[in-house]
Order: sequence, then C-alpha cells, then structure tokens
Amino acid sequence: MTGRVSKAVFPVAGLGTRMLPMTRAVPKEMLPVVDRPLVQYAVEEAVAAGVSDLIFVTDRSGPALEAHFGPAPELAGKVETGAGGERLDAARALVPPEVRLVFVPQGQPLGLGHAVWCAREAVGEEPFAVVLPDDLMVPGCLPDLVEAFDSEGAAGVVAVEEVPLRDTARYGVVDVGGAPGRLSRIASIVEKPAPEEAPSNLAVVGRYVFDASIMDLLGATPPGAGGEIQLTDAIGALAASGPVFAARFRGERHDCGNRAGWLRATVALALAGARPADPFARDLETLLADWRGSAGAGP
Ligand code: UTP
Repeated sequence: MTGRVSKAVFPVAGLGTRMLPMTRAVPKEMLPVVDRPLVQYAVEEAVAAGVSDLIFVTDRSGPALEAHFGPAPELAGKVETGAGGERLDAARALVPPEVRLVFVPQGQPLGLGHAVWCAREAVGEEPFAVVLPDDLMVPGCLPDLVEAFDSEGAAGVVAVEEVPLRDTARYGVVDVGGAPGRLSRIASIVEKPAPEEAPSNLAVVGRYVFDASIMDLLGATPPGAGGEIQLTDAIGALAASGPVFAARFRGERHDCGNRAGWLRATVALALAGARPADPFARDLETLLADWRGSAGAGP
C-alpha cells in the first residue's frame, strides 16, 4: 500500500548551544555517531517510512548537509569499510535515486514551530512527517507513526515516551485522559511544564506526522514558552480540531542534543552487535576498570 505521507521536514536550523564548542562550525546534525552524522540516521528512518521528499529547514547547516548527501565524484573507485566491516563503494549515493532533497532557509531561529512553518510551500497540501535528527531512535519509529496516521485517519500522530517527572520542563507533555495505551488520543498538550504542573510524564519526542492544516495553525501561533514559536502550541490547536494521537515509543531514544546523551549514543551504538573480543568493547572495559580504580570513582 502506498502511504499518504511522502514528505518529511527536518528542522536543522537550531543554534546547538548545548553542544558548543563542537557546533561552532559543525552543525549539530552533522556530529557523528559511530560512522555517520546524526542526520543520516534520521534520513534513513524517513526513507524506511516511505518518504521520498526530504525537506531540510536550515541556516548555516545547509552547505554541510548538501555536501554530505550530494555526489562525491572525488571518491570514485575508493572503498569504504562499513560498520560491520563490509566493503562499500565510497562514492555511492546515500539516498535512493527517487528521493529528492529540498533546502529551505529559516532566516532566524525563532523556534521549532517557526522552522516547521518555513517548510509550508515545500509541503503544500499533503500530510507530512517532522523528524528531529538530534533524537536518535533505536529502532526508528517513523514507519509506525506513518502507519498509525494512515490507519486512524488522524490529524496528527506524535511519538511519546515516559520520562522522569523531574524532567518534564524539558519537553512538550501530553494528557491522554488516563493510562496510555500503544496509541492514545491526546486531550491536551503543554510545553515545558514544571513537574508539579505536568499533566503526565508522557513527553513528546522528535517524531511527528501531521495533516497539512497544522501549517495555518503554526502561522497563527504567537511566541510561547521561552519566547519561541512552539510546535507544541500548534499541536494543541490541531488536537482541538481533529484526532491527534500519542504513539508510545518503546525502543531506546538517545538525546544527542546534549553531551552526555551524544556520548552515550556513541558508546551504545558502537557496542551494539559487538562481540566480547571486539577491540572497542575490550578497550572500554579497560578504561572503565582504570576509571573505577582512580579518583574518577570518587563520590
Ligand atoms: P533544540 O531545542 O534542541 O534547540 O531544537 P537547538 O538550538 O538545536 O539546541 P540548543 O538548545 O541551543 O543546544 C530542537 C530541534 O529544532 C530545531 C533544531 O535544529 C533541532 O532539530 N530548531 C530549533 C530549528 O530548526 N530552528 C529553531 O529556531 C529552533
């Protein structure tokens, strides 16, 4: 079956201040995890969900992304070693030939909601996905979201996961009016609530599918939390006009927008599938043993 969602918006125009100084010249989405930049994981997930139009909302990140996904004639005839030791054509295209890449400037970093709204002409009247590359999902969940969007005839589907209550002020948090199921209709949503004001501990994470009507709602959304135009506020308005569902993500999410999360992702993915004799696994054990025996293990 051909799904209704063939477009995905990648908002990649944030300043990435939590990852400074790494992000002075290298956009956050281009930071590597094991053998590829964060944005490549996100693109692979979108392509697996049936997306064929990749719309990047960029600022300084544009040229690096275009260079990464564009042709690499200088690598013709060279061989690259894949993560599993396989031999790859270094000049191969990183996306299938039918996939199109579109770059749209945000102009000013006025918030995630504003970044998505900047893609309105490229999106047109079609439903679309939004993918935040700094949330690295293992396994990718966009295919499930797209399927739920299609089967439920939804106005929107957003991925959520349970977070510790003390962390609610970092997320959009949903109220599903009771115990959450695999897919639960959203009654309301609030951006960055303090723990004592949070309607639940179900936090929105960086994968969404929306009806195109959210673009008009975004256009009418005033600045909200932090003075930014918040996607969360437009999701609230969308949920008031049609069914928007929270889809529980049960895999592992790596928040690569902060140093600890990015380092953890790197180690977790490097260890995935490694055998005990793998040199990296052995070195890591040695490093940890040394660290435990040193001042690093202090209180
Ligand atoms: P973040 O909240 O992580 O902000 O954005 P940031 O600017 O990237 O990082 P910090 O907080 O300064 O460290 C979440 C997503 O929204 C995009 C970011 O690129 C990221 O994918 N975004 C955010 C934009 O594209 N434009 C904006 O104005 C804000």
